[in-house]
Amino acid sequence: MEYLTFCFVFSCWMKFASSVYSTDAPQAPAHIPKEKLLVLTVATEETDGFLRFMQSAKYFNYTVKVLGMGEGWKGGDVGRSIGGGQKIRLLKEAMEALADQEDLVVLSVDSYDLIFAGGPEEILRKFQQANHKVVFAAEGLVWPDKKLADQYPSVRSGKRYLNSGGIIGYAPYINSIVSQWNLHDNDDDQLFYTKIYLDPLQRQTLNMTLDHKCQIFQNLNGAVDEVLLKFGTDRVRVRNTMYDSLPAVVHGNGNTKMYLNYLANYVPNAWSYEHGCSHCDDDVLDLTHCCGKFEVYHEKHIQNFWEENRNVFSSFKVVGPEENLSQGEARNMGMDLCRKDATCDYYFSIDSDVMLTNRQTLKLLIEQNRKIIGPLVTRHGKLWSNFWGALSLDGYYARSEDYVDIVQRKRVGVWNIPYMAHVYLVKGSALRNELKERNFFILEKLDPDMALCRNGVFMYITNRHDFGRLISTANYNISHYNNDLWQIFENPVDWKEKYIHQNYTRIFTENYLEEPCPDVYWFPVFSEKACDELVEEMEHYGSWSGGKHEDKRIAGGYETVPTDDIHMKQIGFDKEWLHFIREFISPVTLKVFSGYYTKGYAIMNFVVKYTPDRQAYLRPHHDSSTFTINIALNNKDRDFQGGGCRFHRYNCSIESPRKGWSFMHPGRLTHLHEGLPTTNGTRYIAVSFIDP
Ligand SMILES: *[C@@H]1O[C@H](CO)[C@@H](O)[C@H](O)[C@H]1NC(C)=O
Ligand SMILES: *[C@@H]1O[C@H](CO)[C@@H](O)[C@H](O)[C@H]1NC(C)=O
Ligand SMILES: *[C@@H]1O[C@H](CO)[C@@H](O)[C@H](O)[C@H]1NC(C)=O
Ligand SMILES: *[C@@H]1O[C@H](CO)[C@@H](O)[C@H](O)[C@H]1NC(C)=O
Ligand SMILES: *[C@@H]1O[C@H](CO)[C@@H](O)[C@H](O)[C@H]1NC(C)=O
Ligand SMILES: *[C@@H]1O[C@H](CO)[C@@H](O)[C@H](O)[C@H]1NC(C)=O
Ligand SMILES: *[C@@H]1O[C@H](CO)[C@@H](O)[C@H](O)[C@H]1NC(C)=O
Repeated sequence: MEYLTFCFVFSCWMKFASSVYSTDAPQAPAHIPKEKLLVLTVATEETDGFLRFMQSAKYFNYTVKVLGMGEGWKGGDVGRSIGGGQKIRLLKEAMEALADQEDLVVLSVDSYDLIFAGGPEEILRKFQQANHKVVFAAEGLVWPDKKLADQYPSVRSGKRYLNSGGIIGYAPYINSIVSQWNLHDNDDDQLFYTKIYLDPLQRQTLNMTLDHKCQIFQNLNGAVDEVLLKFGTDRVRVRNTMYDSLPAVVHGNGNTKMYLNYLANYVPNAWSYEHGCSHCDDDVLDLTHCCGKFEVYHEKHIQNFWEENRNVFSSFKVVGPEENLSQGEARNMGMDLCRKDATCDYYFSIDSDVMLTNRQTLKLLIEQNRKIIGPLVTRHGKLWSNFWGALSLDGYYARSEDYVDIVQRKRVGVWNIPYMAHVYLVKGSALRNELKERNFFILEKLDPDMALCRNGVFMYITNRHDFGRLISTANYNISHYNNDLWQIFENPVDWKEKYIHQNYTRIFTENYLEEPCPDVYWFPVFSEKACDELVEEMEHYGSWSGGKHEDKRIAGGYETVPTDDIHMKQIGFDKEWLHFIREFISPVTLKVFSGYYTKGYAIMNFVVKYTPDRQAYLRPHHDSSTFTINIALNNKDRDFQGGGCRFHRYNCSIESPRKGWSFMHPGRLTHLHEGLPTTNGTRYIAVSFIDP
């Protein structure tokens, strides 16, 4: 029973199977004890990739010896051209001391772009099964000298060519190989190994082979389509679907670094369905003694914010459009403010289209303790967000398999991703070190945010909390007085939050509405802001009709019961207004006049202004509507005196209208009504004749 519970993970099952095999088959060699495996890797700097490698090694209890830490790198730019000889020089030096340990197995691997997916016992078992003294990683692409392709032994199936990112072998044999090195640090390591391997004599005497079917080593270059994540209970592996193998070492060689980053968001135990994120709380900062200094930056609209919050910040700089900076230059300049000030701990960048609703955002980001981290923000109801899950080979957008789950927070964690924009936090120390090359925002022809991903530092997005939203700014028309009023289509959530009354939803949950006269319903619908901005918008437009019978704005040109008003259409607000009716009035109609589904058609939508010196009241009349809404836009006693509405049939008056509350009553037959005189000040109401 113990095996049944413990051995749910595939690799354990393999271990079980092979131990059975070794007891049944006396000719099988004894297992190499895991203490006999030594991992050697060259790393001159503790890059993010190196730290991740060490984390995966620690998880499996590998014994790792790091060579060259702190030494200058002279091995060339291996990402773009040949090089890497320094790695062999360091390995050669290290092997001299190990050469006579005949039973020591040495695993030499890269570390900046490589992780472990399986443990030492598994690697040793697979090494023994390979039945050679030295096994190199293999790949499907020949590098760096394509002319050597023909000299490789042919293989019936599997990868044909050598990759030097992973080598495993007995110490004396490895030593025999690397002791042949007499080239320069910037000569090519892979070419050196290739030439030794392609020499038939050496291949035999040093008993070398390649891991053709990715039993131990998975190189991702040219093989991204062959691999999948395989989720177990405690561990996530990479599975090679071509050879049906579970490689124990995964190497993001060539331009597959971003893909490795994606795999390493899961492998070996970073995230699983059962346990979620297992490293999210590693190395978090204790913020009991908060906080650093923030530079905030941009535009005139934040002036008010600054006046209210200046105590929170120690300095502030506003850069307006008059400075004529390109977006990239502006972002560089913002970062420079932090970069050049040794006391700047963090740089927080937020664009105007980000709406953070979580007040803890900065604290949560700082706590997470990453060099670059952003909060996930998404466009409401869309899959549009501020990060990309993957990059295509030409460096543009590609959708990762997990993108939708991360955006919808079905997978929650801190994710290493290739591209992020709109809002992020960067450590000041990183700006002064890894990111001191200030020009990464105006690289090539990329978008300024796009370029942020091209610097080798891991960039994370967290969706561990709900942080806020991305606002759509594409169709933001700035020609109105209060432009946000027009955003009901583009940014409906923000529109609702700003303009709909706080207690509107209680109409449905708690029957939060009144019936002051028969069939006259009274309910909260507009926020203070909605009322104020609509009045401002009308006064800004200013062409009040004057309450005349002749009215060119309506069919027939004659109004029997005219008011002093402005139509929604006159300010270009009719489409938005009708949408408001359908979204927020129709549900109330259905509730109070059950079975009546309004289509929300309304030709007459207007704001009326009552003042004692122009028009103070409206004589009794019927409305040309199925039903009417009448929303009070300002406050009795504060803004005006008098006012209200009287329904004759019921001898019923409502004399204390409430700002933001709407009446809803039948229009044509039963509800003859009048507008009671406004005796002082100015009263505004918004009215719609809805039909049907
Ligand atoms: C690593 O060693 C620790 C302590 O001996 C042990 O608890 C853990 O299970 C080991 N990890 C693996 C993956 O074997
Ligand atoms: C290679 O080594 C294995 C054992 O490690 C041995 O069984 C095999 O015969 C060797 N092959 C050659 C060609 O020497
Ligand atoms: C702003 O920069 C653009 C392009 O660099 C240039 O054409 C324009 O004249 C500049 N405007 C001002 C006011 O300097
Ligand atoms: C909503 O209702 C609560 C409780 O009745 C009240 O305290 C609050 O002021 C109301 N909100 C507004 C905006 O009127
Ligand atoms: C912006 O609003 C103005 C005023 O309503 C209108 O004339 C203009 O066409 C609008 N622009 C766009 C791009 O919709
Ligand atoms: C209307 O109501 C008022 C009191 O609210 C009352 O004084 C008056 O007599 C009523 N009128 C009719 C016609 O019922
Ligand atoms: C009318 O309102 C103004 C201020 O809004 C106030 O000063 C004045 O006394 C009011 N007049 C009357 C007759 O109530």
